[in-house]
Amino acid sequence: MAFCNPNVQESLCSFFLFFTLLLASSYSSYALSSISTSTTSVTVDQAMALLEWKDSLNNQSQTVLHSWKLLDPNATNSSLQSDLCSWYGISCNQRGIITEINLPSMGLQGMVKNFPFPSLPSLMRLNLNNNSLFGSVPSNIGNLSVINYLDLSKNHLSELIPLEICSLTGLEILSLGDNCFHGSIPYEMGRLKNLTSLTLFSNNLSGSIPTSLGNLSNLQQLSLYQNKLNGSIPVSLGNLRYLTILRLLENQLSGIIPLEIGNMSSLKNLELGDNHFSGVLPQGLCMSRSLVNFSAPNNHFTGLIPRGFKNCTGLVRVELQNNQLAATLSKDFGVYEKLNYIDLRNNQLNGELTSSTWFQCKNLQALLMSGNKITGKIPPDVGKLTQLHELDLSSNYLVGEIPKEFGELTYLLYLNLRGNQLSGSLPSEIGKLYSLTTLDLSGNSLSGQIPKEIGNCSNLLYLDLSNNRLNGSIPFQIGNIIYLQILLDLSQNWLSGEMPSQFTNLGKLEKLNLSHNQLSGTILSAFYGMYSLTSIDISYNEFEGPLPKNRAFQNATIERLRNNTALCGNVSGLQPCEHSSLSKPDNKNLIIVMVVVLSLLFLLFASASIACVVHQIIRLRYVGKKQRTPSPGWNLFSVCNFDGKNLYQEIIKATEDFDAKYCIGMGGSGSVYKAKLSTNQVVAVKKLHQPLQDEYEEDAKKKTFSSEIRALTEMRHRNIVKLYGFCSVGQHSLLVYDYFERGSLAKVLENNELASELDWEKRIVVIKGVANALSYMHNDCIPPIIHRDISSNNILLNVKYEACVSDFGTARLMQPYSSNYTPLVGTRGYIAPGNKFDTFLIIVELDSELDFKF
Ligand SMILES: *[C@@H]1O[C@H](CO)[C@@H](O)[C@H](O)[C@H]1NC(C)=O
Ligand SMILES: *[C@@H]1O[C@H](CO)[C@@H](O)[C@H](O)[C@H]1NC(C)=O
Ligand SMILES: *[C@@H]1O[C@H](CO)[C@@H](O)[C@H](O)[C@H]1NC(C)=O
Repeated sequence: MAFCNPNVQESLCSFFLFFTLLLASSYSSYALSSISTSTTSVTVDQAMALLEWKDSLNNQSQTVLHSWKLLDPNATNSSLQSDLCSWYGISCNQRGIITEINLPSMGLQGMVKNFPFPSLPSLMRLNLNNNSLFGSVPSNIGNLSVINYLDLSKNHLSELIPLEICSLTGLEILSLGDNCFHGSIPYEMGRLKNLTSLTLFSNNLSGSIPTSLGNLSNLQQLSLYQNKLNGSIPVSLGNLRYLTILRLLENQLSGIIPLEIGNMSSLKNLELGDNHFSGVLPQGLCMSRSLVNFSAPNNHFTGLIPRGFKNCTGLVRVELQNNQLAATLSKDFGVYEKLNYIDLRNNQLNGELTSSTWFQCKNLQALLMSGNKITGKIPPDVGKLTQLHELDLSSNYLVGEIPKEFGELTYLLYLNLRGNQLSGSLPSEIGKLYSLTTLDLSGNSLSGQIPKEIGNCSNLLYLDLSNNRLNGSIPFQIGNIIYLQILLDLSQNWLSGEMPSQFTNLGKLEKLNLSHNQLSGTILSAFYGMYSLTSIDISYNEFEGPLPKNRAFQNATIERLRNNTALCGNVSGLQPCEHSSLSKPDNKNLIIVMVVVLSLLFLLFASASIACVVHQIIRLRYVGKKQRTPSPGWNLFSVCNFDGKNLYQEIIKATEDFDAKYCIGMGGSGSVYKAKLSTNQVVAVKKLHQPLQDEYEEDAKKKTFSSEIRALTEMRHRNIVKLYGFCSVGQHSLLVYDYFERGSLAKVLENNELASELDWEKRIVVIKGVANALSYMHNDCIPPIIHRDISSNNILLNVKYEACVSDFGTARLMQPYSSNYTPLVGTRGYIAPGNKFDTFLIIVELDSELDFKF
């Protein structure tokens, strides 16, 4: 499966890992100093020392370093040069002196203790990032007297950071992050005056941040996050006037943030979250408008949001949740054109959401303000935030109606307005939110009927309308929300009438609460198909008749059933059901009435069936006509005929029965063809090697399976390839996707010319796209959808080199009933990577925490 040019991939991987470092490093000084170093060229002793280190590594590492060997065992100092300087990862300058050793991500395993530091006095760059080196770093690292780039991050190095590192005063980049160093940060580190980047994150470092770090006057990046540092931030850090990135999150730091930090005029990223900081935020923060990313959640900050915030126009991401910050919404914030994500949950914000500020932030994707003291109405301008994915205004004091302009927010996935004082009726425009997965409007004063349009929100997994004053009957369209899974809560309203029988379609629903309403009638048929139900509450209604046989009812206690009109069943507290009261009529008239009614029903049913058949015939003719002349915008793949013959015929025609000349790719699961349909639409058709489904599978399973596919066809995300539908006819199973001109990332990387056209900037765009797609599927889909075959073959590029991940979910579709097929738990799958880029992608997939803030 390894298709890519290995050099390209490696550089792509390491590029990403070192993204920040590269940004910070300066190459010019590096070139200068290489001229002034010692004149000893490579020696037999050096070669021996390096080979000795190689021998101390495990077998696999030795294989990786197979180019490290002496061709001539009697080599002399002078004959060695061409040899040693061509060993993998070793670079010499023009005079044959070793200046660089670059062995990142090589899988090297062994002790760093044996590394021949003393034999490499002219080394300027040492990169051992992302290996499995362990043990302590020896003090003779101090022999690297001219080094300026030292990266030992992502290993298992332990013990103390050796003091001798602090004598390497030429260092510009020092990366020791993601190891197991403990002890404190040496005070002497303040001597490394040339440092531009110091990263010590993800270790076990304790003690306080040495004040001496304030002497590192060239520092641009300081990353100390995920350690056990305590004490407060030294005031001296305010001297670091070139600092752009300061990451201190996830430590045990306390005290106030020195005013001086607020005056750092270059600071773009300030991350202070998950510490014990208190007091007010420095008022000067962002006076220089440089801040892009400010996060300080989960601390004890009090007082007002800094004054500088109002004009901090460059902000992209803000996280201040779970503090005690005060501010007036309409006054203390400005208009942030670039703002993408703001989380201010659980603070002391007050005032109203005015149209002149928040609703001008056109790029907002997440606006999270629950648990504050926000008053007033939600202005209709909320409809301007068309990029919004998440809106949480719950637990505030909002009043007035829910504006119908919510219908404009078609990307909205999460809407939570619970626990306010909203009134009026629920606008029918809510039905336009077809992406919505969570809707919580509970605990308000909403009245009127539940709009039937809610049935169009077919992606909902969680629907809570409880504790309102909703009346009328439950619209049967709720039965269309077939993915509803986590909760359907309509309790504590004034709903009446019967439970719609369409509830039987809610086969995934786990929790249903209808308690405290005036619902009536019997419940047997509505619950028939609700296989997944584990918890029900139908207490305080007017239901009657026998209990359904679902597990949820079998486990239900009387508390969940009590106070109904006449429920019967095998639960203590309920009367047992008398077997068919019809069989022992005490009155002959009743029998006669029954017979008449039944015959009438029969007649009615028979004529209805005939009408249905006639209607079908007419409809089929009509559809047949219509398909020959498709109207513009009419889509062949509408879900209703996603397994239709028609599409299949079209594809057969367009590909001349899957002629090889239309084949544009082959993969593990099938071959891909390009098909130009009669509508002029060009699509990619994936013909699967194995049939998608077994004709003889039970109906229920078939049904879940097709709803899975339907879920995938209904998914819309700019970085996920659109799946139009599938056909399964005879031996062929076809998936129909959007067609991409540039083909897959693998194809581009394979071709040297195309690969070089895919420059770093474009690669970042690719990585971001993939990360967005994965983050969406992992975090915004419940249960999370895991790709399980993420590789450069499945990443397609459009003309602008934007990435789209294809084949989402089809890994699961291939074996729909395997043990992995459990919609209730998000299983993490894994497919062995084909190449390094793919390894990286899998890491991105498994670690959805990765943030791509640049
Ligand atoms: C190689 O050079 C080193 C230092 O320049 C010297 O000490 C050593 O004796 C030389 N070895 C040989 C075999 O010439
Ligand atoms: C290397 O470092 C050690 C200990 O720091 C020191 O004793 C030794 O003289 C140094 N050797 C060279 C070649 O610089
Ligand atoms: C159902 O809702 C009522 C009222 O909202 C609540 O008191 C009850 O605990 C809920 N039942 C379950 C099982 O969650």
